[in-house]
Amino acid sequence: MKVLVTGCAGFIGSHVAARLIKEGHEVMGVDDFDVYYSRSQKEKNLLPILLSPQFKLVEDNLSTMALIKVLKGMEAVVHLAAQPGVRGSWGASFHRYVTNNLQVTQKLLEESKGNKLKRFVYASSSSVYGDVGEVLNEEMMCRPRSPYGVTKLAAENLCQLYHQEYRMPTVSLRFFSVYGPGQRPDMAFNRFCHSILHDAAISIYGDGQQVRDFTYVDDVVETIAAALTVEEAVGQVVNVGGGSPTTLLEALALLEEISGKSCPKTFLERQKGDVMSTRADRTKLEGIFGTKPKTPLREGLARQWEWMQKFVQSEDEEQAIRAQAQPITGVDTEALAQAKADEKAGKKAARKAKAGKAGKETAAPAPEEAPKETPEA
Ligand code: NAD
Ligand code: UGA
Repeated sequence: MKVLVTGCAGFIGSHVAARLIKEGHEVMGVDDFDVYYSRSQKEKNLLPILLSPQFKLVEDNLSTMALIKVLKGMEAVVHLAAQPGVRGSWGASFHRYVTNNLQVTQKLLEESKGNKLKRFVYASSSSVYGDVGEVLNEEMMCRPRSPYGVTKLAAENLCQLYHQEYRMPTVSLRFFSVYGPGQRPDMAFNRFCHSILHDAAISIYGDGQQVRDFTYVDDVVETIAAALTVEEAVGQVVNVGGGSPTTLLEALALLEEISGKSCPKTFLERQKGDVMSTRADRTKLEGIFGTKPKTPLREGLARQWEWMQKFVQSEDEEQAIRAQAQPITGVDTEALAQAKADEKAGKKAARKAKAGKAGKETAAPAPEEAPKETPEA
């Protein structure tokens, strides 16, 4: 299948692209390397697939680009690009959430509605629910607690509308706090690992008793891949929860056990937008896809810890090199300008010669026939 993966350089998107390529699909990836977090992390995310002939990367902004560039010939869309982050969605940054989450989704739906797609998979979120119940099921009335959740729910509703009115084969998957290698740097486990590795205090918002149904990234990817082919998924909204609802302090204790290190903890004010608990009802997930999340929290955390150690080491090394690097001096700018002018003149002459030959349909000279350059003394 030819699949467009939006947000392909991000945490979940890069895992999805790699998995689809492994399954033999052709992936068109689009990402604008948004400044929300480092370009360097996103480039590292893409390293395993960058040279694959099945992968094409387009670096562009979905809100301003002509989508035909990436939608042409696609059979499916996995739409992950967004402005994530629950706690940062208040105040002046809200416009980024409206643009990247709501308007971009509307633009993608609108411009792909006539394309006879086999699937349009939308990355929804547990944050659409708010604090509406102990166990969250898809039939519940959603009351998001954060502006981020509001935009994710609005975009999910748009997907439902395009399914109803245009028969678009949409599937909305509500992910629950995803973790694993490549996790975003604003998220809890990444920040905790970072603190442990730098012997710094760990910041906990609230009393640490908030519960999250943490979901390992491979389990999310598994469901996204299945959503591309399972017919029963079309038109549905489905929870993708990890199956191990845990308090933040319990998860942190596990991480300390895995790393063999303990750090001081600073308890800070509860953050606006943070819900007390998320537990996914998985009846629909298991009914439609016949799968259960496979990765227990301890195993997934151990994999994230292993990745974090290597990642932080490489970032620290890169920073140290940059800090020590000498500014490049001694460049003969005049000679450089002359060389550029010569190159330009050479190209112009070549174009002229080619234009002169046009119409004669002569083949370009083979490299061995090309005149040899005499190196200057
Ligand atoms: P991420 O920030 O790592 O990935 C998103 C990517 O989208 C980034 O690489 C960013 O550069 C790109 N992007 C953003 N706006 C863009 C635009 N206008 N044009 C092109 N590219 C753009 O985030 P993630 O954690 O991988 O989340 C992926 C999706 O899953 C998001 O839609 C998010 O709302 C959803 N989600 C994530 C979680 C989670 O726990 N990580 C949970 C629920 C839902
Ligand atoms: C995560 C993602 O960040 C959202 O993009 C996603 O939509 C959401 O999951 C979801 O499931 O819908 P969140 O649950 O807040 O949001 O995940 P984390 O950022 O990992 O935070 C988990 C908990 O740890 C939160 O209560 C947060 O306040 C807390 N936390 C986070 C800390 O106590 N300290 C930190 O340094 C970071």
